[in-house]
Amino acid sequence: MILAIDGPAGSGKSTIARLVAARLGFAYLDTGAMYRAVTVRAVNNDLDVHDEQSVAEIAQNAPITFGYTPGNPIPTEVFIDGEDVTYDIRTAQTDLYVSPVSALPAVRLALTDQQRVLGAERDTVMEGRDIGTVVFPHAELKIFLTASSEERAHRRALQNVERGVQPVDEAAVHADLLRRDAADSSRDVAPLVAASDAVTVDTTNMNIEQVVEHIVELVEAKKTELEATSAQKLFEATSAQKSLEPSGETL
Ligand code: DC
Repeated sequence: MILAIDGPAGSGKSTIARLVAARLGFAYLDTGAMYRAVTVRAVNNDLDVHDEQSVAEIAQNAPITFGYTPGNPIPTEVFIDGEDVTYDIRTAQTDLYVSPVSALPAVRLALTDQQRVLGAERDTVMEGRDIGTVVFPHAELKIFLTASSEERAHRRALQNVERGVQPVDEAAVHADLLRRDAADSSRDVAPLVAASDAVTVDTTNMNIEQVVEHIVELVEAKKTELEATSAQKLFEATSAQKSLEPSGETL
């Protein structure tokens, strides 16, 4: 089962998706971290982040992998081509360059392919901008997480303090969020938009536990619905089979 969680920066996606994955025993994939890892490598190689072919070569050839700490099923480290970029993917510089990188169609194509492979392996909570619309348009459940831009800036500023990265000033974070929202929503390829069949969850006035609980309930309801549908299909197939069998009655 794929649980797609999309939404704008700072909507709480990463925190929520990690907790939901841990609760459900699903794998967790942070697709934003993949775009960030490619961005770090492109910047470190002094590439122009608008140079589609050169940046796409990174996405196509440099494997992105995740590292785990013992006892924690949720990955805590990100590597590109074996290089640990866990810290670098969260810097203000990466925040600045990741939007142009993620707008490059060839980069999206390469990363989308990898995300589909990873999602096919097992039940996964996949977090991003285009999971429900492009990567897994047939995901069993799609959540679009959102919150007011002020609340999102407040949360992201606190998170930056925790992670020890700049900026921590709320006004600066707010301006950057609005810039990225606009860039992510207006790009030609796979723009940030809720899938028509996504459940929108506005987290502005909800705490983390409430959001996690709500999503876990939606997953449980979806599982029950899927089980009922497959039981119904099995019943119909068995009935159809029986009606084809000779009845044994003589005329
Ligand atoms: O979720 P995040 O802030 O770590 O994402 C970083 C950037 O990557 C963000 O500006 C949008 C882009 N992104 C994307 O275009 N598609 C995804 N599936 C995930 C992230």
